[in-house]
Amino acid sequence: MDLNNNLNKILIIDFGSQFTQLIARRIRELGVYSEIISHKKMNSKLNKSKIKGIILSGGPLNVYQSKKVKFRRELFEWSLPILGICFGHQVISKELGGKVKKAKHREFGLAKLKRINKSKLTQNFFNQNGLNKVWMSHADEVTKLAKGFKVIAKTETSKFSIIENSNKKLYGIQFHPEVTHTERGKIILKNFIFKICKTKKNWSSKNQKKILVEDVKRIVSNSKVICALSGGVDSSVVAKLIHNAIGKKLTCIFVNTGLLRKNEEIQVVKTFRRKFKINLIYVDAKNLFLRKLSKVSDPEKKRKIIGNLFIKIFERYAKKIKNVKYLAQGTLYPDLIESKSVTGSQTSKIKSHHNVGGLPKKMKLKLVEPLKLLFKDEVRKLGLELKLSKEIVLRHPFPGPGLAIRMPGEITKDKIKILKNADDIFINSLKNFKLYDKIWQAYAALLPVKTVGVMGDNRTYEYICLLRAITSEDGMTADTFDFNKEFMQIVSNKIINDIKGINRVVYDITSKPPSTIELE
Ligand code: XMP
Repeated sequence: MDLNNNLNKILIIDFGSQFTQLIARRIRELGVYSEIISHKKMNSKLNKSKIKGIILSGGPLNVYQSKKVKFRRELFEWSLPILGICFGHQVISKELGGKVKKAKHREFGLAKLKRINKSKLTQNFFNQNGLNKVWMSHADEVTKLAKGFKVIAKTETSKFSIIENSNKKLYGIQFHPEVTHTERGKIILKNFIFKICKTKKNWSSKNQKKILVEDVKRIVSNSKVICALSGGVDSSVVAKLIHNAIGKKLTCIFVNTGLLRKNEEIQVVKTFRRKFKINLIYVDAKNLFLRKLSKVSDPEKKRKIIGNLFIKIFERYAKKIKNVKYLAQGTLYPDLIESKSVTGSQTSKIKSHHNVGGLPKKMKLKLVEPLKLLFKDEVRKLGLELKLSKEIVLRHPFPGPGLAIRMPGEITKDKIKILKNADDIFINSLKNFKLYDKIWQAYAALLPVKTVGVMGDNRTYEYICLLRAITSEDGMTADTFDFNKEFMQIVSNKIINDIKGINRVVYDITSKPPSTIELE
């Protein structure tokens, strides 16, 4: 991926740490644009003029694995401030003549950091006693400093937890300032970007909106654009942004698969067609989806059928609009960066379905992806700036195949109706109890098992409703949310009393891994 040449930035060189994206987000939260590039992509042809400082990330490698670590020494000749974090700290030390060895005492988790010397990097970071709690995750350590470096702080077991060569503006820290467990960690990043790199703020939702609207106008010019609107956050923000830029030259296509959340289709039409006056083609494909999915239980088959059908319908309606040149997509920054590639694991492929893959080639459309430099939280802020309602912008993620993958086994009209109602009760209860915004994603599922119950004096034999609520940073890993018993009982009672067809409610307490967030 090429770097953006229009904005001053802090460049983060990624060595495969699971926290690299977090570093970029923290810097952007401080109001400065930052970009990530894999260490494998570093080369002398990079446009340096907009780079104001460099951060070397952590990573799972060992600095002496020279075949795997593609570090370019010429970086030191650019005369830019450099901050190495964890593995990055070890890279700086090793490359400049210091020594790194397997640590006698590995440090994982919280450690007590003690100040030895003052530094610009640590202004306002330590408490009155020169101490701070920091979060560590390393098995190797720097054992000898490179020439010109001095120690700024240490822990009980590690001598060189913060080091600097202030003349050359080179800094190394063994702990992770980007994670919330490190107290006041953000101050380190703040000092680095403002006091040491001397960058100015250039990143806020307001100016993003301005820049992105101008970008879309310039790219699209007088052409027409189509956009698959799903009602989710990303496609809603894309649609509104492009509409701000080109107005009636945008047409959105919304396919009601019948597998959406309760009343979602009504809200989409109300918001986009009535309120914002955006050209919207509404396709009612409920029956078609139901027919094609009838008697299908295999999760992958369900996904394939839904994906293909969606593309077919989209294509059919898109063809009706004359002279379309562009397809707008809600691709986000995490979909593009090659973070974690060092360890072989891939970042989210989860959107391949959503993104109407395959269409541009077939229909000879060019892509316009205005959100491709943004993280999800930035997209949400931009949405609010674009005057989308909080209800849309703060909505939990929803998978492309919709309720189909929250209903293991065969899909029927009755089951869909039961599930939509159960989910609606759960989600509304979360909102009423002010829990919704504390949870990353929550939903109800309908299990294909019937169990015996008793209601009044009668025996019942009905489905089990499973509730899932998780906290997460990005959906790659997740923890279950802790509800109190009273809340769970209220929700369970309401679901069983209001909905015919469910007589038992269970709560899924598995984290991801080993489970996934969705059931299928
Ligand atoms: P899993 O179940 O893989 O889900 O732990 C991680 C996140 O991805 C969402 N998800 C999807 N999103 N199309 C999407 O757009 C899909 O096919 C899809 N499958 C899962 C899921 O809701 C969760 O947020």
